[in-house]
Amino acid sequence: MKKVLVTGGLGFIGSHTVVELQNEGFEVLIIDNLSNSSIEVLDRITSITGTKPAYFNIDLREKAAVKDFFANNKIDGIIHFAASKAVGESVQKPLEYYENNIGTLVYILQELKANNLNNFIFSSSCTVYGQADELPITENAPIKPAESPYGNTKQIGEEIIKDATKISELKAIALRYFNPIGAHATAKIGELPIGVPQNLIPFVVQTAAGIREELSVFGSDYDTPDGTAVRDYIHVVDLAKAHIVALKRLIEDNNKAQYEVFNLGTGKGNSVLEVIKSFEKVTGKKVNYKLVDKRAGDITAAYADTNYAKDELGWKTELTLDDALLSAWKWQETL
Ligand code: UD1
Repeated sequence: MKKVLVTGGLGFIGSHTVVELQNEGFEVLIIDNLSNSSIEVLDRITSITGTKPAYFNIDLREKAAVKDFFANNKIDGIIHFAASKAVGESVQKPLEYYENNIGTLVYILQELKANNLNNFIFSSSCTVYGQADELPITENAPIKPAESPYGNTKQIGEEIIKDATKISELKAIALRYFNPIGAHATAKIGELPIGVPQNLIPFVVQTAAGIREELSVFGSDYDTPDGTAVRDYIHVVDLAKAHIVALKRLIEDNNKAQYEVFNLGTGKGNSVLEVIKSFEKVTGKKVNYKLVDKRAGDITAAYADTNYAKDELGWKTELTLDDALLSAWKWQETL
């Protein structure tokens, strides 16, 4: 049985990926410092799959602990999610973001090299494209200057990994996610919003649940069909499955280069108003909203060109926006 380390494995995308890995017969080890997750997720994963993953409460900023982990655990692949991801917070705390997202990445890569571990999957983001000149966005679209320290950590992280592949046998895939949403069909795991949600779907869901009075729709005069911004919302379960495909590609030596990049999206753009309408349709719940000014740093539209992932990984999304929104609502009901 192949052993896989998932850092940030109790987080939103991490936990869904752990479930899919276990479903595919991998033995999973999780490192998570619970900075943006809950230990209960471990039991919830176990109740879905019937197998408890090994769990290590390690803070990846502690180099000695990282060294120790890799010295004591023989693993076949690493999926590295652990990172801070709040755009606004990153502007306030840039150094913390660089330490937590970049410092830890370097420590892990050093240990992979020292221990001859060569299969590495990195959580990246479509944020590296900024407002792309052409839609849909292909993997060849130029990287734009980052709008935030968070976005910068993804760009720099990709560069660091690429450089690491040049001086070792490391094989790495950076997966650039569009907008991950939704929850597991069992409603046992999902996104755990701490405080006021910054992302659209958690805010929509909490508004429908009566936790928030009203959703602010940021910007209604964008150059889009209904004036609101357009994004590519991908179901987290589809996204999770892509990680297993990418990992197998490396383990089975099917990669075409030591460093590869794939966009993960549905290929379809939806506006904020379309999301609200779909949510109301599938749940029968009303979402109070008002149109307000644009949010600083937001782009007009982004959606993925999915051809490269389809052709090379043989992966595409199977679930719809409606599926994702309904699952997000069921998860809210669990909460
Ligand atoms: C954001 C980050 C992106 C990050 C991603 C991770 C910014 C500028 N970008 O993407 O770097 O990788 O989250 O999940 O923060 N919206 C509203 N009202 C709300 C919240 C959002 O109208 O209360 C709108 C936004 O203006 C945007 C869309 O909904 O048009 C999606 O927003 P969000 O879920 O925050 O994702 P992104 O901004 O696309």
